[in-house]
Amino acid sequence: MSSSGGGQGVFTHEILKLINPACKLLVFETNETFCKKLKYTTVDDRAVIIHDSAEKIGYYLEKHNFEKADHIISSLPLSMFSLELKEDILQNTSCFLNDRGQFLQFQYAPFDYKRLKKHFRKVKMNFSIRNFPPVFVYRCSL
Ligand SMILES: C[S@@+](CC[C@H](N)C(=O)[O-])C[C@H]1O[C@@H](n2cnc3c(N)ncnc32)[C@H](O)[C@@H]1O
Repeated sequence: MSSSGGGQGVFTHEILKLINPACKLLVFETNETFCKKLKYTTVDDRAVIIHDSAEKIGYYLEKHNFEKADHIISSLPLSMFSLELKEDILQNTSCFLNDRGQFLQFQYAPFDYKRLKKHFRKVKMNFSIRNFPPVFVYRCSL
C-alpha cells in the first residue's frame, strides 16, 4: 500500500489504524521537515517514510520486494504541479497499481477528471463535506 504526500501524518496515522498487521505502507513526502516529523510521530513497523517524490514508486516498491501496490492513496496537490510531473506521477501510479487495486486522490478542485480518465478505466468522483475544507475524492481503478 502506498500513500503519496504524507504531510503532517493525519492520513498516515488513520490508514495505519485500518490496515492489516501484515501490510506495508510506503509513505512519500518531499518536504524534509514533514518527513522528519512523520518519522518521529509514526511509531509503526509497517510504515516506511520515504523522503522522495511519489513518481519514484516503482523504485521503492522493488526496494521493498513488492511488484505492485495493492492500493494507492494520494493527497498530492496535483493542480499545483507542472503537467510533466503530474503525468509522470499518474503514469507511474497506474503502472504500479495492482490490477484489482484502487487509487484514491483527494483534491480541493474538480479539475483533473479528464486527466485521470486517461490513466484509469474507471474514475468516480465524490464530494465530501466531512472534511474541512470540503474535498473532492476521486476513486480510480484500472
Ligand atoms: C495536502 S498535503 C497532504 C496532507 C496529508 N494528507 C496529511 O495527512 O497531513 C500535500 C503534501 O504533499 C507533499 N508533496 C508535494 N509534492 C510531492 C511529491 N512530488 N511527492 C510526495 N509528496 C509531495 C507536500 O510536501 C505536502 O506535505
